[in-house]
Amino acid sequence: MSSLLEVQGLDVEYRVASGWLTGRGRRLRALCGVDFEIQEASSVGVVGESGCGKSTLARAILALVAPSAGEIRWRGWSIDRSDASRMREMRRELQVVFQDPFGSLDPRMTVGDSIAEAVAALERERDGAVVRKRVAAALSEVGLDPALAGRYPHELSGGQCQRVAIARATVVRPRLLICDEAVSALDVSVQAQIVNLLHDLCRRHRMGLMFISHNLAVVRHLCEEVVVLYLGRVVERAPREALFASPRHPYTQALLAAVPEPDPGAARNARVVAAIDDVSDATAAASGCAFAPRCSLATDRCRSESPPLESAGEGRWVACHRWLESPGGDSISSINSPLGPRITPTRRPE
Ligand SMILES: Nc1ncnc2c1ncn2[C@@H]1O[C@H](COP(=O)(O)OP(=O)(O)O)[C@@H](O)[C@H]1O
Ligand SMILES: [Mg+2]
Repeated sequence: MSSLLEVQGLDVEYRVASGWLTGRGRRLRALCGVDFEIQEASSVGVVGESGCGKSTLARAILALVAPSAGEIRWRGWSIDRSDASRMREMRRELQVVFQDPFGSLDPRMTVGDSIAEAVAALERERDGAVVRKRVAAALSEVGLDPALAGRYPHELSGGQCQRVAIARATVVRPRLLICDEAVSALDVSVQAQIVNLLHDLCRRHRMGLMFISHNLAVVRHLCEEVVVLYLGRVVERAPREALFASPRHPYTQALLAAVPEPDPGAARNARVVAAIDDVSDATAAASGCAFAPRCSLATDRCRSESPPLESAGEGRWVACHRWLESPGGDSISSINSPLGPRITPTRRPE
């Protein structure tokens, strides 16, 4: 397998206005030292609460916002917006589906024209008959009647619109599809159908998937690997089975315990959940671990020293000084004790 996407030490800052009188801007650090990668034809879920930087990460990868530090490489190429021809190629290979099924389609265009526009713009296909055939095939592939090509978005349901958005994104055969909360606005029954559709499309076309969601149950169904973000930082990264069976970071443990599913670990994690409910000072940590103000395991070290993302064995990465002592960590420490020295720093110091 080779890397489709590599993100290394990514920082993104936004300028935000601070006050009427001073007129000075303030910087908001939306992402801080984010590291992860996506292999060809693999699926990675990005989870975390609202405001933790998930959409910013998608926007940075799509080159819609410029990083303030770090690097993003697309198939080995360091994304460079001044290279127009390579950018055009990347724009075809990397497609996105957003949350709002109606907002992502032009209300003045028929759905057929929306899909045709993608083929014409990204593949420079000029033959009308070929384009029409591609549109019809794309619609049936997402489970819609090709006769709907003449309809406008407002004539369709939310689920149908999202299928059209998926057809528009996948008609050009991207190597990676980014879905940013793509099922969150849909009814639960429709969500399941769209999730199954995405699963089938990825398999059929060996398409990679970066699935951003706050819904862990859906991520568990779709993604082979999971990246957990907290206030702009990766706090844990792990293969699906490992993450859901024994989350290492106290924040991941709390997130999983909050999933409304029977979870044998829920009672064990109750202590952390109690802490996570108190969000009032969640952003207060200027130094140290960003999660420390909400973490029942936090020590003075956690409050003063930011934990690097370290290898925790079995393809897992955790940014926590105390993961071995946390409720989900003690099992591995006894079972797998010859993990060797725990500290394997991988990131350059900030
Ligand atoms: N265009 C913007 N200007 C200023 N701040 C922004 C902008 N977009 C997002 N933010 C802020 O950046 C942080 C991350 O936002 P976002 O990436 O949208 O998070 P998520 O998708 O996880 O909800 C939030 O604090 C949000 O308020
Ligand atoms: Mg978002």
